[in-house]
Amino acid sequence: EKGNHRHFMQKEIYEQPEVVGRTLSAYVDAEAGRIRPVEGIDFAGMSRLLVVGCGTASYAGLIAEYWFEAMAGLPVDNDIASEFRYRDPAFLPGDAALFISQSGETADTLEALRLCKAAGLKTIALVNTPHSSMAREADVVVPTLAGPEVGVASTKAFTCQLAALASLAVLAASQRGKLSPEAVEAEVASLMAIPAQMNAALAIEQEIDQLATELAHASIVLYLGRNVFFPLALEGALKLKEISYIHAEGYAAGELKHGPIALIEDDVAVVAIAPHDALFAKTRSSIQEVRARGARVIAITDKAGADELDSEASAILKLPDVKGLAAPIVAATAVQLLAYYVAVHKGTDVDQPRNLAKSVTVE
Ligand code: M6R
Repeated sequence: EKGNHRHFMQKEIYEQPEVVGRTLSAYVDAEAGRIRPVEGIDFAGMSRLLVVGCGTASYAGLIAEYWFEAMAGLPVDNDIASEFRYRDPAFLPGDAALFISQSGETADTLEALRLCKAAGLKTIALVNTPHSSMAREADVVVPTLAGPEVGVASTKAFTCQLAALASLAVLAASQRGKLSPEAVEAEVASLMAIPAQMNAALAIEQEIDQLATELAHASIVLYLGRNVFFPLALEGALKLKEISYIHAEGYAAGELKHGPIALIEDDVAVVAIAPHDALFAKTRSSIQEVRARGARVIAITDKAGADELDSEASAILKLPDVKGLAAPIVAATAVQLLAYYVAVHKGTDVDQPRNLAKSVTVE
């Protein structure tokens, strides 16, 4: 079933252009240049969207928060399910709640959904498993079409969640009058370009494999990013710790001086996700700061970023030049491959890491 791949995780990483394309097609009407409305979801009448999930799914939700707020002007409140369900959350009129889950069976997320339903909120389940408990119980189901995910470390489910969420953010922006039909058309075109861009990104596998040999010896790996690349930093760190057992943390680059910089010494590696966008200069200065203190810095960037970081980063992974909604989806492939190859070099059980279950159905 793994085909010519060594592990399910590797196979699932490589399936992404296809399954992300398939998921996008469920939401995007490419010919008409618009996003298909979703029955039961009215973003115009929504005053706030609560977004809840665990682990990787919660990071997809965090990325979506940036999108919904910036593009659609829709306030988003994000929480991890295990906290949300026990903190007596307060609701506002016009609240709707979105639950993100690959399995649709994660105990905390399911209970959070039940709590919101009981409170009278509209509940939306973004799930990869059509016959799951969440799919059955939510008012509206928005599917991801990643197909079965076998690797315990989530990869293709994550990027498919992002593809669906990006489409919904465009829909929300259009329903809330924040994007003209022409602007929607432009977003649709860039969404449809994602699978090919992911393919291009996956082509840097050899370089990542090489870099991973060294990274496998790091004692701590810090992932830094800003804006949507902050949640991606969290996801990169989670992936690495799950399968390579190296201590990894994700931070917003702006938080560096508020604590984590104290960790920096020679055997600490920093992965900076720093495409050449509006915040590039700020992430660049974080790179300079950690370099000056002896960290080895791997920059995940694009052509323009690579030109500027050439003498500053210890190593550069150059991604295709992608802006907007597509950027974190494409960059996700690089953090996944990096974690994968570090684990391969360490010889850990990539598909079945110690202590972890694919689906956490008990608290
Ligand atoms: O099935 P779910 O999406 O609800 O699972 C949520 C988390 O348990 C899951 O994403 C977990 O963090 C993965 N092992 C991440 O790789």
